[in-house]
Amino acid sequence: MPATIVVGTQWGDEGKGKFTDLVAKEMNLVVRYQGGHNAGHTLVVDGEKFALQLVPSGVLYDHITPVIGNGVVVDPRVLLAEMDMLESKGVDTSRLRVSGNAHLIFPYHQELDALHERHLGKNKLGTTKRGIGPAYADRAMRVGIRAQDLLDEKIFKAKLEVALDHANQILTRVYNRLPVDFDEICDIYLGTCKPRIEPLITDAIDLVHTSLESGGHVLFEGAQATFLDLDHGTYPFVTSSNPTAGGALTGAGVGPKHIDRIIGVAKAYVTRVGSGPFPTELFDEVGDHLVDVGKEFGTNTGRRRRPGWCDAVMLRYAVRVNSLTEIALTKLDIFDALDSMKVCVAYEHEGKRVEQLPYHQSVLHNCTPIYEELPGWNSDISGITERHDLPKEASDYISFLEQQVGVPINLVGVGPGRSQFLHFTNDG
Ligand code: IMP
Repeated sequence: MPATIVVGTQWGDEGKGKFTDLVAKEMNLVVRYQGGHNAGHTLVVDGEKFALQLVPSGVLYDHITPVIGNGVVVDPRVLLAEMDMLESKGVDTSRLRVSGNAHLIFPYHQELDALHERHLGKNKLGTTKRGIGPAYADRAMRVGIRAQDLLDEKIFKAKLEVALDHANQILTRVYNRLPVDFDEICDIYLGTCKPRIEPLITDAIDLVHTSLESGGHVLFEGAQATFLDLDHGTYPFVTSSNPTAGGALTGAGVGPKHIDRIIGVAKAYVTRVGSGPFPTELFDEVGDHLVDVGKEFGTNTGRRRRPGWCDAVMLRYAVRVNSLTEIALTKLDIFDALDSMKVCVAYEHEGKRVEQLPYHQSVLHNCTPIYEELPGWNSDISGITERHDLPKEASDYISFLEQQVGVPINLVGVGPGRSQFLHFTNDG
């Protein structure tokens, strides 16, 4: 069963791009299964930095077909700009394919996203304001417009009329804004975008299954993460899709029998952007240190990420809801200058020890982390490629986490470069 899922285990920004890129090497197809350009995957190849939002990371390998799956919401203008950026850096984007069933993001989605956030005031979600939520809402309301609708101008215009009528009613009557112009959208989407997007639009289900049936290896690449999942995350402070492993199945059109590896990517500490509960959040100079050294600012939005200690309760939950087979740990080198690190092993709530993630979110808001403190290694590990060369304290940190979460940590990142990682099996 040659299919692998890569999923984030925390609140995103775990460094999935790096490990997706690493695993992608052995793949024929890399399929992005949810989210949109709210994501930002950063890869460093031969010193050159690539910040990807929509295009699957497999694009950097000549033998891979990168596919944007049906579960993704696509702003065609952003997609074309990203393809131009890649081409300008010498990356061939001609193999990219977009599922005909992927939904499109329109300017009114973006405007509604920003207006809704403003309307929520102090209760705002802290969205990326990219129109992700409103585009998924239109999909659920069945007024969404799909990539395949670009192929037939008559259908596109008929659907746009319905969708725009609905969006303009909200913009003008609820928010007192100007309506979005129908012809202007047609000019951009049918005039500018369609000629370039049309050749990419495909039957992604056939593509994926033909590859699987012929023994090909397929990677399903998630964006965001477990705790931003619409069903399993810290609702309502979540995104509007399912980044968890189940989302890979619906977002790419495969059943579970094809999947043999589910890799959860976890950062050695935790960060979060936007609002919502965060039990291990740090408000002190250690948090500032993690943000500074870890360069914890949004790839796309530039927002400072909220930092915190590693939370094993969260990771145990991520292991469960994704059925993780293993964990890839990133950014262990960010601890290089610390004397010690804390790991949250359980929560305390009203005098009781809580080992598993509480289903009642009020508990998550009000619990206190129970920490174990582990010694630091005070040395530079960014050049190390073998586990036996790691300082004992770093190796012990990995073993401690493995024992806490119950699945092996097989990959460990020690720097942003493509070769800065350790790969080891369970026997160390
Ligand atoms: P939306 O996905 O733009 O609707 O934002 C919903 C929540 O998900 C907000 O808290 C965002 O900050 C968060 N979010 C969305 N995409 C990412 C990501 O790629 N990394 C981290 N957080 C994200």
